Amino acid sequence: QLDPLPPITPEFVSVLNKVCEQCYTDFAPDELEVSVREHILQDLETFVRRQFAGARLQLFGSSKNGFGFRQSDLDICMVLEGQDDGACIHIIESLARQLKKHPGLKNILPITTAKVPIVKFVHVRTSLEGDISLYNTLALHNTHLLASYAAIDRRVKILCYVMKVFAKMCDIGDASRGSLSSYAYTLMVLFFLQQRNPPIIPVLQEIYDGKKKPEVLVDGWNVYFFDDLKTLPSRWPEFGKNTETVGELWLGLLRFYTEDFDFREHVVCIRQQCRLTTFNKQWTSKYIVIEDPFDLNHNLGAGLSRKMTNFIMKAFINGRTVFGTPIKAFPPIYPSQME
Ligand code: CTP
Ligand code: MG
Repeated sequence: QLDPLPPITPEFVSVLNKVCEQCYTDFAPDELEVSVREHILQDLETFVRRQFAGARLQLFGSSKNGFGFRQSDLDICMVLEGQDDGACIHIIESLARQLKKHPGLKNILPITTAKVPIVKFVHVRTSLEGDISLYNTLALHNTHLLASYAAIDRRVKILCYVMKVFAKMCDIGDASRGSLSSYAYTLMVLFFLQQRNPPIIPVLQEIYDGKKKPEVLVDGWNVYFFDDLKTLPSRWPEFGKNTETVGELWLGLLRFYTEDFDFREHVVCIRQQCRLTTFNKQWTSKYIVIEDPFDLNHNLGAGLSRKMTNFIMKAFINGRTVFGTPIKAFPPIYPSQME
C-alpha cells in the first residue's frame, strides 16, 4: 500500500544531503554550551556533597553520547561512594529537599514511582531541564557505547540528529507521553547502519580477541564492547567500504523501516549481527520491539499502545514519501503567510 517512489536524481540527493547537514549544524551545541553543562554538573556536585559527603555526579545521555541538542536535558547519575543502591527512594526524597535550597534551581520534583526514581529540576540561568537518577550504571555504559558508534563515522552522528529532529517534529519522540525515547530512535538508526550493505558500523559487542567474548558484568549484564577505535580499521574488514552520502542513507533508513524490516517478526537489536526474532525473545505481543544492548530484558517499545504504534508507523510512511519525492521548486511565500 506504499506509494511507489520516483528514481532519485543526483540533484535530489544533493538537496537531501543539505537538509541532513543542516539539521546537524542547526542543533548541535558548540564548545561553550558543552562546557556550561560541565560547570552546572560541578556546581551541583559541590552542593550535593554538603549533605551527601560521598556523592559523585556524572553526566550521561545526550550530554555525553554525541547526539546532544542545545536544549537537551541534563541526564545526571548520582553514586554514593561506599554505599550500594539500598534506600533509593529515601535518598531521592532527601536529595529533592536539599536541591530546593539551591538558589540556581527551580521546579524541583522527585518522581519515586518510575522504574528509575529521579529528581527533576530546572536550571534557572540556562533554562535547561535536568534529572538526577541514582546508580543508573547501565545508562553510563550504554552512553559510552553510543558515543563510540558516533565516533566511528561522521554520518552516524548526522543521521542520529536527523532522526531525533524527525521524531520531535512528528511528535513521536517523548516516552513520558507514550511514544519512544530519543534513546530508542538512536538504537533504530544504529541497527539500520549495521544492517546496510556494506555496513557503516560494526557490531562492537561482537569484536574481541580469542574465542570467547570477555565478560564485564554490571547489574548482572555483560557490558563488554570493543572500544579501541584507533585499531578498528585493522579489526573490521568492512571499515570504510560504504561510501553512501547521508542523504541517501536517510532515505534508505525510511525505506528500510517501511519496506524491508518486518516489525512483526524481527527485533531492533544492535548487539549481534545475526537477526533476532520476536519469537526468540517471547515478545510477540508487541509490534515495535527494540532490545536494549545490555539489559536484554528491556524492550524499549514495551510501553507503546496499539494506537501510538500506528501513529509512529504512519510518521515513517509519510516521511518516506516526503523525503523520497523530489520537489521542482519551493512554493512562493507570500508576506501574509510569513507571520
Ligand atoms: N536510557 C536508558 N533506557 C531508556 C531510556 C534512556 O538506559 N529506556 C538512558 C540512555 O543512556 C540514554 C539516557 O538514558 O542515553 C537519556 O535518555 P534520553 O533523554 O531519552 O535520550 P538522550 O540521548 O539524552 O536524548 P535527548 O537529547 O532527547 O535528551
Ligand atoms: Mg536526555
